[in-house]
Amino acid sequence: MCLPSRPVSKTHSFSSSSSTIATRMINCILLFAFIFLVYLLISASRLQSKNSIHAYFSSSDQDQSKSLTKINHIVFGLGSSTNSWPARREYVKLWWDAQKMRGCVFVDHPLSSSENHTDSDLLPPICISQDTSRFRYTWRGGDRNAIRIARCVLETVRLFNASSEEVRWYVFGDDDTIFIPENLARTLSKYDHTSWYYIGSNSETYQQNSIFGHDMAFGGGGFALSSSLANVLARNFDSCIERYPHLYGGDSRVHVCVLELGVQLSREPGFHQFDVRGNALGILTSHSTRPMVSLHHMAHIDPIFPNSTTFSAVSHLFSAVELDPLRIFQLSVCYDRWYSWTISVSWGYTVQIDSRHLLLPVVLRTQETFRPWGQSGYTFNTREIHSDPCQRPVTFYMQHVSSSRHNGTIESVYTQAYENCTYDPITSPRKIQEIRVYSKRLDLDIRQLKAPRRQCCDILPTSSTGGKVMEIGLRECKENELIYMHP
Ligand SMILES: *[C@@H]1O[C@H](CO)[C@@H](O)[C@H](O)[C@H]1NC(C)=O
Ligand SMILES: *[C@@H]1O[C@H](CO)[C@@H](O)[C@H](O)[C@H]1NC(C)=O
Ligand SMILES: *[C@@H]1O[C@H](CO)[C@@H](O)[C@H](O)[C@H]1NC(C)=O
Ligand SMILES: *[C@@H]1O[C@H](CO)[C@@H](O)[C@H](O)[C@H]1NC(C)=O
Ligand SMILES: *[C@@H]1O[C@H](CO)[C@@H](O)[C@H](O)[C@H]1NC(C)=O
Repeated sequence: MCLPSRPVSKTHSFSSSSSTIATRMINCILLFAFIFLVYLLISASRLQSKNSIHAYFSSSDQDQSKSLTKINHIVFGLGSSTNSWPARREYVKLWWDAQKMRGCVFVDHPLSSSENHTDSDLLPPICISQDTSRFRYTWRGGDRNAIRIARCVLETVRLFNASSEEVRWYVFGDDDTIFIPENLARTLSKYDHTSWYYIGSNSETYQQNSIFGHDMAFGGGGFALSSSLANVLARNFDSCIERYPHLYGGDSRVHVCVLELGVQLSREPGFHQFDVRGNALGILTSHSTRPMVSLHHMAHIDPIFPNSTTFSAVSHLFSAVELDPLRIFQLSVCYDRWYSWTISVSWGYTVQIDSRHLLLPVVLRTQETFRPWGQSGYTFNTREIHSDPCQRPVTFYMQHVSSSRHNGTIESVYTQAYENCTYDPITSPRKIQEIRVYSKRLDLDIRQLKAPRRQCCDILPTSSTGGKVMEIGLRECKENELIYMHP
């Protein structure tokens, strides 16, 4: 130690060389100054090399987590037509937030003035597509509108790339694509928009993928282009689509033009093309642990809630989406040991009780409640449903969702769908009329988004309801917790 052990009470001049204490002090100060200088130099050089290595690998995970992608970082381009827009805009109204979102709906001809102004404060602005008649289109029996729809990419980028507000992502979809905007933004937060990304998902049916490409983002499910990629793509777009007149759709054209830049699809299972018909329950309840980003083709499937029209069903779903978007359709599985029931909660949508003990991998297989669009064959594992509805799991549909202002607990209530079945009032899950599920709003950070984990559920002790109500709590699973029926 070179510092005097006790404070120097007298004032010493630095020039006084007679005082040994003063000399030692000066030496100390000089030494410290020198060490500090060396430290500064070393740390500065280390900082610099770290920066250049960082830039070299262009991975900025940490920077990204500091600034999650917000809805207002995204610009939307929706492919529509003068004919389809009046019916489709009701769906867009459900998810569009004119205060926060930017974008355009592309139609082929000007709308009448009254059509143009209907709810224009609740909807994206209408843009008229440019003339594409000079491009060749040679898919026999196809629809050359595909070129116009593909060109939404170029026209959207041109409209917004000079905007003063930052654009991180361009997202494209059809006018019947239903986005869950919070989940879209959160999903894109995982990616660095300054690198080139083409993000979306393919079709659920094997045949569609075989024809159009297993590695193509299907347009109906929507897809995202990082702004850095979109700007480069836009520059080469017209010359590119001229090279591929033989392709069918707009999405195929975007796909090949991205491929020409050497970029491949980053698959995100939250984007849903929905190439199925009938009852989509099986697909919805077996949705990935990643957030649900989009739904499509709602008018081609049965309404997703009983006793509803297609529109009122989607609107009903959004009453749950509004309270906890990231949790929508997330599946938790728990077991009732006493009755040997298997209970699966698809949050905001259904609770299903199977009166048997099903192993988790069986529960997670998609129940084949639907028919394919075209030929049979899916890109995921399915399980058959029983031909007799009374032998199928008892299904409860979301009735309403509410949030407690005091403690943030979200209660979702599910009621049993009626089936004309006889049952044992003691042991059958049909005796239950209502299921109440309690949870907290999900708020996933980048780490959890990249490595999602299914949540666990507990059957809560319920008294004084005569077995007609079941209560379930959802929570994060414990460190080593396993999902199986405990003996
Ligand atoms: C709709 O109205 C706006 C302004 O009211 C106008 O700028 C736009 O060109 C119109 N669009 C169509 C498709 O008629
Ligand atoms: C916007 O896109 C156009 C068309 O590709 C391009 O010419 C222009 O340089 C872009 N501007 C910016 C700011 O990226
Ligand atoms: C949260 O508040 C509601 C009433 O608003 C109450 O019923 C519920 O028991 C509370 N939950 C917890 C966990 O405190
Ligand atoms: C559907 O409507 C019928 C008749 O109005 C009613 O009895 C039934 O409970 C409803 N089902 C659901 C799931 O709301
Ligand atoms: C319910 O099913 C029984 C036979 O299982 C049948 O006799 C009865 O008519 C059915 N009721 C309705 C409302 O369909």
